Amino acid sequence: MNNNKLIKICEEITRQKSIIGCKIYFHETLESTMTEAKNLVKSKSEEGTTVIAEIQTNGRGRLGRNWISPKGGIWMSIILYPNITPEEVSLITLAAATAVCTVIEQLYNVYPCLKWPNDIILNGKKICGILTEGSIGPDGLDYAILGIGLNLNFDNSNLPEEIKNLASTVISETGINFETEEVLRLLLLELNKAYKSFLFDREKILRLWESYSTTLGQNVSVVFDNRTITGTALRITGEGHLVVFVDETGEEIEVDSGEVSIRPPMK
Ligand code: BTN
Repeated sequence: MNNNKLIKICEEITRQKSIIGCKIYFHETLESTMTEAKNLVKSKSEEGTTVIAEIQTNGRGRLGRNWISPKGGIWMSIILYPNITPEEVSLITLAAATAVCTVIEQLYNVYPCLKWPNDIILNGKKICGILTEGSIGPDGLDYAILGIGLNLNFDNSNLPEEIKNLASTVISETGINFETEEVLRLLLLELNKAYKSFLFDREKILRLWESYSTTLGQNVSVVFDNRTITGTALRITGEGHLVVFVDETGEEIEVDSGEVSIRPPMK
């Protein structure tokens, strides 16, 4: 990324008194921005501190998966200290996902959608994933690290063969090449708005998330806690959990994290 452009982004964020991106650490290569952000927490970095890497050599996804992170993507982690319960951490993921959708929709004039809990889908393929890791202490949540991986300006041929039919990149799906720095700028500003809504107006985040949802109302199977349930995805709770009506038993189960497949598979 271009250093001067990054400096301009920092200046704008300071002018706007935004929390998100109040301090930005940019690295050409890191193993994972999550690990680096955690190290920064130890040195008492302020809320909103953002770590960005041009390339990650050991990017991490949910459920212990790798996250392929070549040049051209936006790989970043943001340090947050919200005054919330550990159960509410998933809402941060949902809030961030709405920010990503808003930016993609406004810039590219395409319609991404959201698969609970953290997948941003364009043309049926995952183009962005969000990983929020919380650290819980004796008094509740100590901090959360919000990690965002946006497959932006690299060809989807860079993605591993086994996920090529499931994942893609914004440029491959839209054919449009917006400058990575410009997308980053808009994303940081939008994330700031979403974080404020998360803190002060949760309903807004939940309604926005629902408006992008491709999960609610669908037949789903959900893998969580080593079990699989199938049924209908009914609603999202105030804590961002998914409520599923289980076909077999007729009960409603609330899932706080898991892997959702929509049946029949999305086209
Ligand atoms: C997922 O599995 O969908 C979540 C992917 C999260 C990837 C991002 S890239 C920036 C940050 N650093 C990491 O190592 N992972 C997250």
